[in-house]
Amino acid sequence: MMTTILLLHGPNLNLLGVREPEVYGSMTLGDINARVEAAGAEQGVEVRPFQSNHEGALVDKLHEAASWANGVVFNPGAYTHTSITLRDAIAGTGLAVVEVHLSNVHAREEFRHKSMLAPVCVGQISGFGWRSYLLGLEAILGHLKDI
Ligand code: DQA
Repeated sequence: MMTTILLLHGPNLNLLGVREPEVYGSMTLGDINARVEAAGAEQGVEVRPFQSNHEGALVDKLHEAASWANGVVFNPGAYTHTSITLRDAIAGTGLAVVEVHLSNVHAREEFRHKSMLAPVCVGQISGFGWRSYLLGLEAILGHLKDI
């Protein structure tokens, strides 16, 4: 059976390319999705991207994905630092999730140092710009091979 990965993006990531390019780079979300989909295709892996600015829509997508995704690469945006709801959705579905960030959240404001989600994720990748997503894909596929 084909491995299928949910590529999930949280709030404000639809603005990539325009939003604070000195922090987040000049690639658009469409560019990033295309690169990750292509990297997946090279390995026979289907990558399905989804973005929402709404916490509940992200919860719904995780619930839905529990029936078809082998794993998730997730940039939760600012919800990383606030959302017990998304943490419970990850724990509740039992999905294998790799948390990714374009910027190095640990080198930024104090409020970005804490992730509510990291304890229920396989791991976290932060600070490599759009390549964080490629590393996230590699990380989740490696994890899935080992289990
Ligand atoms: C981010 C880091 C978060 O702190 C921030 O709120 C974002 C983007 C990143 O990819 O670097 O929206 O997740």
